[in-house]
Parts: sequence; structure tokens; C-alpha cells
Amino acid sequence: MRKIIVAIDGHSSTGKSTFAKAIAVKLGYVYVDTGAMYRSVTLYALQQQFISEQGEVSEKEIVAHLPAINITFRYNKEKGASDTYLNGKNVEREIRSFNVSQYVSRVSAIPEVRERMVHLQQEMGVHKGIVMDGRDIGTVVFPQAELKIYMTADPQVRAERRYKEMKEKGSDVSFEEILENVKHRDYEDEHRAVAPLRKAPGALLLDNSRLTPEQQMEWFLQQFAKIRMDDY
Ligand code: DC
Repeated sequence: MRKIIVAIDGHSSTGKSTFAKAIAVKLGYVYVDTGAMYRSVTLYALQQQFISEQGEVSEKEIVAHLPAINITFRYNKEKGASDTYLNGKNVEREIRSFNVSQYVSRVSAIPEVRERMVHLQQEMGVHKGIVMDGRDIGTVVFPQAELKIYMTADPQVRAERRYKEMKEKGSDVSFEEILENVKHRDYEDEHRAVAPLRKAPGALLLDNSRLTPEQQMEWFLQQFAKIRMDDY
């Protein structure tokens, strides 16, 4: 059967990557986490001290060193998912650190960084058979993707999910703080100057406020079945 590109965008804490990974496993496709790529550039910038201890981001230095940043994904059998490698080193854990999370939105707003990442992402899609998630996949990276999905959920519901996760990790952050953070990130994602988060033309809206993972997969498989593979 011919392969397609599945492009998934949407708000934070909607379970995009969990959903995208499950789809990739189901279809036997490659999953690409584009957030991990922006996080890797941010980690590199921190390691090279292109971000000062005072938190000043040197865009110039980051841009000048973009050719030296090599990001790849390698399948980890034990995990059943891919790990992110920065210049040959597994950085899967480091890119999720608080420090990286704190600066990644600044770094991902640099136009040259986006240009380079978009180019790499487009190369990864040359042979199709991929599920990619992020903020601009259906709008910028693959506007021609055969299946574009825009995920959202009620902020209250997303904050409840995050709150539960944080509690399980032993964090004592309050529900109100998390709800504020969820709303703030939505605003930032939707209002930034470059590649703001938007529902792409032709994207299918998936509001999973009241859907279980099984129901989401059922919905996806219905949509997938509607695509006429012969057209591609
Ligand atoms: O999905 P995430 O939290 O791992 O994303 C990390 C950051 O990268 C977040 O600030 C949004 C940004 N990002 C982006 O600008 N474009 C993408 N395609 C993916 C993520």
C-alpha cells in the first residue's frame, strides 16, 4: 500500500505526541517529534554558552553555528520509540530538562533556526510513511500532507491531565498555576511572529476533551480509511 504523511499540530498538553506515536506504531510509519528538534538546538546553545547565565540569547551565535548541529533519531528497541541524538549523543533525557524548556520558545522563534529545522523535516518526509507532530507541520512543513490533524482540548481538561502527571512526579505545583501556564502557552503559540499555531486549511479538528485514547484511535482509523490511496 502507498504511504502517506500524517501531520499533527495543536495546543500543548493535548497528548499530541502520545497519539502520533500510537498512529506510527499502528501504521508501521516513522514518528518524528519536531519539538525534540527545537529542544536539541536549545540544548546545544546552552552547552556552547550562546545563552548566558543571565538568560541572554545570542541569536547571532546560534545562527552561525547551525551547520554544526546535527540532529537524528534512532529507534530504541527496549522503549519501542525513537531517541533524539545531538551530534551523535543521545540527548533524549536532557532535552526535557527544565532549563531547555525555559528557553526553547525563544530559540524556536529565530527565523533561521526554523528555516533549517523545516528543511530537515521536509527531507525526512521525502519517502512519506511518517507521522510528524509539532506546531507548523500542516501549515508550513507539509501543507500538502494527505492527512492533517489539529488537536485541541478544553484548557481545564488539559490542566487536569498535567496536574495529575505532575503530582505523580512528586511536584507540589498548584492546579491554578498549571491552568495559567496552559493558557499562557496557547497564547504564545498562537501569537508569535513566525509560524504561529494555526489550524491548517483542510486539517481535521480533533477535540479530545472527552475522548479516551482508544476512541481517538478509532476516530483516526476512520479518517485514514477515507483516504483514497490511489490518489497518491
Ligand atoms: O512540543 P514541545 O513542547 O516539545 O515543543 C517544544 C517547543 O518547540 C515549544 O516551545 C514549541 C516549539 N515548537 C515549534 O515552534 N514548532 C514545532 N514544529 C514544534 C515545536
